[in-house]
Amino acid sequence: MSEPNAILLFCSRFPVLFKFIAGFFLVLLVEASTSSCPVLECWFVQEKAGRGGGLTGATTQEKSLLHIQTDAQSHDAASQKTPTDINPDRVYFVTDPAATLCHHSLNPPRGSVKKPQCEINPFLPQPSSLTWVASLTDSALSPIYLDAEWFSSAFQGLNEQLGISTITRAPTGSKEHNVILSVTSKTLSVKSRLGEPVLLDCGFWADPSSPLSGSGFAVEWRYQFRGNGRVVVAYDGKRDRLADTQEEGAMLDFDGLHKKGNASLILQEAKVRHSGTYICSVYLPYLLAQVAVDLEIVEPPSLSIHPSPLPLAVPGQTLNILCEASGFAPLSLDLSWEFKGADGKSRPLGSGSVTGHRQTWDGTYSQSTRLELDTSKLDLGTGGEISCVAVHPGGTRRASATLNVIGFSTPSIEDSMAMVGVALVLYGLIKFASWTFSSSGSTNGKQKPEKHLFF
Ligand SMILES: *[C@@H]1O[C@H](CO)[C@@H](O)[C@H](O)[C@H]1NC(C)=O
Repeated sequence: MSEPNAILLFCSRFPVLFKFIAGFFLVLLVEASTSSCPVLECWFVQEKAGRGGGLTGATTQEKSLLHIQTDAQSHDAASQKTPTDINPDRVYFVTDPAATLCHHSLNPPRGSVKKPQCEINPFLPQPSSLTWVASLTDSALSPIYLDAEWFSSAFQGLNEQLGISTITRAPTGSKEHNVILSVTSKTLSVKSRLGEPVLLDCGFWADPSSPLSGSGFAVEWRYQFRGNGRVVVAYDGKRDRLADTQEEGAMLDFDGLHKKGNASLILQEAKVRHSGTYICSVYLPYLLAQVAVDLEIVEPPSLSIHPSPLPLAVPGQTLNILCEASGFAPLSLDLSWEFKGADGKSRPLGSGSVTGHRQTWDGTYSQSTRLELDTSKLDLGTGGEISCVAVHPGGTRRASATLNVIGFSTPSIEDSMAMVGVALVLYGLIKFASWTFSSSGSTNGKQKPEKHLFF
């Protein structure tokens, strides 16, 4: 049998399976076509015109629509109809040859409620006077190229880890934007344990056909926390010069930066003081795009119980047990106590008296709780396990200690009376049995006495 015949036979034998497989490939095809570049709703935000000076900071925002495409020829998107609440003058065609904006996280399934975030603003190209950027504009560039409409856009993906910032250029009066510079981070929110190396992702792409690319770039990472800021790393890529900063253990991968636009920041060893926002800025001559990455150092506490081991407890005695949680960050901790008896059941003992926190030299916190264990109030039996439980964003930790209660408690009145009762019943049974045995034995020697004994 030839091969096509075998396939035909297979399909006729298993029509349902065939339809299923065909359907599967159809779905793949549809998937492939819909995972192309998105049409994004975007807030067009600009400063309010007029009123002279314009220092009021007042802005207007309008809905706009961005048709993303990878080359200017593919205008099939134009056939799509524009939602009625969007001004046709605010419909743009954005050509992004690197397809950065075609990431699936910016392209939700049709009808999904959650939408990627997007904002577009007019942008004014200008030289920067920062020492690590100034060299980019020291030679005269074609100002004619700058004479166009420039926009800066910020995008945030559905997965909330993708952030993209672009600078686009449109010939004056045109709706056709070209991405000239894009900066991307795939880690908008990073959590790290203490002491571990941290990677804050940032990468950029510059349109190679633009006269602004190829004449150098600069990268700057700035740290921001509660109003304080400092430059962590600043690098002049044109002169291959790293600015002096006070930051130790912060690095760029210079090879990856020049070859692939990998501007990721590497922190060799995470410290509590590293928690905060990091802004990755990439400069081309006259242009700047940036993304912000949040870093949080999360370290769960280490627990210890004092005294250790616990002293033997005498019923009626009150034991003071201390649980110390140390080395944790951030300052968000819930301490409590538990007792697990011989029956294996756990009982909560409350949170004890929790002390205020202390911060140590490395920025981590410590806090403790004291449990006053009144052995007469609680039915602890012969003892069990006392545990201190710490619930922290970095995870739940527990420490346990064995509690032994010595001496035996005297039986209660109820117990004594029950014991007397049992003894009486047993005595009665024995009496009855021996009487039956002896009586049956005397009247009928053939019968087995056991029958009466165990009724
Ligand atoms: C960027 O560089 C860092 C450090 O060398 C590396 O870990 C990361 O994988 C690189 N990212 C990309 C997209 O190449």
